[in-house]
Amino acid sequence: MTQDIIVEREGAVLTLQLNRTNKKNALTREMYSVLAKAFEQADADDSVHAVLLTGSAECFTSGNDIGDFLEQPPVDMHSPVFCFMRSLLECRKPVVAAVAGAAVGIGTTLLLHCDLVYVSTDARLRMPFVNLGLSPEFGSSLLLAQVVGPVRAAQLLLLGDGFSGEQAAEWGLANAALPTGVAAIEKAREAAQRLAHLPAAAVQDSKRLIKAPGRAQLRQVIEDESWLFIQRLNSPEAVAALSGFMNKA
Ligand code: COA
Repeated sequence: MTQDIIVEREGAVLTLQLNRTNKKNALTREMYSVLAKAFEQADADDSVHAVLLTGSAECFTSGNDIGDFLEQPPVDMHSPVFCFMRSLLECRKPVVAAVAGAAVGIGTTLLLHCDLVYVSTDARLRMPFVNLGLSPEFGSSLLLAQVVGPVRAAQLLLLGDGFSGEQAAEWGLANAALPTGVAAIEKAREAAQRLAHLPAAAVQDSKRLIKAPGRAQLRQVIEDESWLFIQRLNSPEAVAALSGFMNKA
């Protein structure tokens, strides 16, 4: 199994830590597959009551590995990135995320599917899909506007403006902004342990109710976005932008 994801159990909490620090935790196909399997196992295992998703105290993730996007782009809904997305979307257990440093692309959009999110004040979140010739994924074209409002969603998704952890908390994308990455991870760990000690069936039923409104629409939006994303990855605009990053001096 890849060392790029550390899977650990602490009581009833399953912790998934992104651990490819030399590449700013850029997510490879293999990492998505490990994450998808871990979420599916967590969902099936009654002894897991909560999942904690973290990067390091310096970096959450720089998003999809750009080399992978160029060399082995997703081709259909069975591609590792989409399997990971589905496993997070369908996870019945509460998911807590801890974000420090960069959270780019899918690193920001996946937060829309977590139940509790803790960030460091100086975290740098960004969804530069359009800037890279791509389009929003993972339900962000629907969910982001619901959370931050349509004009701010346009700023973040069309202009690709970055924002801080402090702003993420102000805008309702995160529960709290903590002074450091270490503090954000600690706060997220505490929250996951609190969830793990609550009556498990009541937590899961309540999560299902919170997520239920608009669920069918969300699944459809994700599928539509995914097919468009696959097309856009093959567009000359995207190939030029992604190659530009890989060939940087
Ligand atoms: N895919 C592949 N490699 C990546 C990567 C990614 N998404 N993000 C970073 N890396 C690699 C860099 O190429 C570099 O590799 P090298 O040491 O072999 O040259 C290494 O990780 C460190 O990244 P670097 O850019 O030097 O770090 P930084 O601190 O200056 O900047 C980021 C951090 C996250 C701002 C910057 O790496 C970045 O913008 N990454 C791309 C983000 C992105 O567009 N993601 C896709 C969204 S769809």
